[in-house]
Amino acid sequence: MTNNLSPIDKAKFVAAKRATDFVEDGMRVGLGTGSTAAWLVRCLGDLIEKEGLRITGVPTSSRTADLAREVGIKVVSLDEAKWLDITIDGADEYDGNLNLIKGGGGALLQEKIVATASDQMVVIADISKQVDTLGAFPLPVEVVPFGWQTTKALVEETLVGLDVLGQTTTLRLNGDTPYITDEGNYIVDLHLKRIGNPRQMSLVINQIPGVVENGLFIDICDAVVIGFGDGKVEVRDINAGTIEEDHLDFIDDENMFSDL
Ligand code: 5RP
Repeated sequence: MTNNLSPIDKAKFVAAKRATDFVEDGMRVGLGTGSTAAWLVRCLGDLIEKEGLRITGVPTSSRTADLAREVGIKVVSLDEAKWLDITIDGADEYDGNLNLIKGGGGALLQEKIVATASDQMVVIADISKQVDTLGAFPLPVEVVPFGWQTTKALVEETLVGLDVLGQTTTLRLNGDTPYITDEGNYIVDLHLKRIGNPRQMSLVINQIPGVVENGLFIDICDAVVIGFGDGKVEVRDINAGTIEEDHLDFIDDENMFSDL
């Protein structure tokens, strides 16, 4: 069955599988959103079923909540969990300092709240997400629907004074209508090409009234688990300054791959 997976899916799978080593019995775990995070949720479900792992999951989107329940994870809200031992999530880009762009899947607000309320955040990604400088991936900014065009114009005005290469902004659409986040907001994507100073960008953008949050995760991520299509996995821990290499075998599991 795993033979049907593309190399990129294999890379996402092995990153997710390796990241389950961070999860211990009894932990409260933030569950990310996106295709890589979906692998993590499936892998955790597998461990619950086969090894009796007991965890409580706090999902970062309605999509993840549905999948988590489906695979047997006990789901609670962040306010019920109060604080989390770990959050494991995907990313659209990560740089050498493990600063991130997130929100390609539209869940950046809940993802940032959940990751910030965790002792540890681990990103799972295939190697294509690695960049020297953030910004090739459009930076998602969540804005309230009220006055969104004015907010967008203010964001554009602000970009003029920042160290970026591009200044185009677009409202994210779902077909012909605005994409609506789980919190009922819109997303404006900033096509910056290169973000010279991500920390400054994040602070300045969040000062604009109407902006709820942006997809830059600065000093939030502790480790990244990078998957490769041949089963190789690399774990980079920014606090310990370590890089570990591993190799995972693909096991054909009827349950885990049945809905693919
Ligand atoms: C969702 C996200 C995702 O983590 C990010 O878009 C990566 O997704 P994928 O694992 O599908 O590449 O930030 O808001």
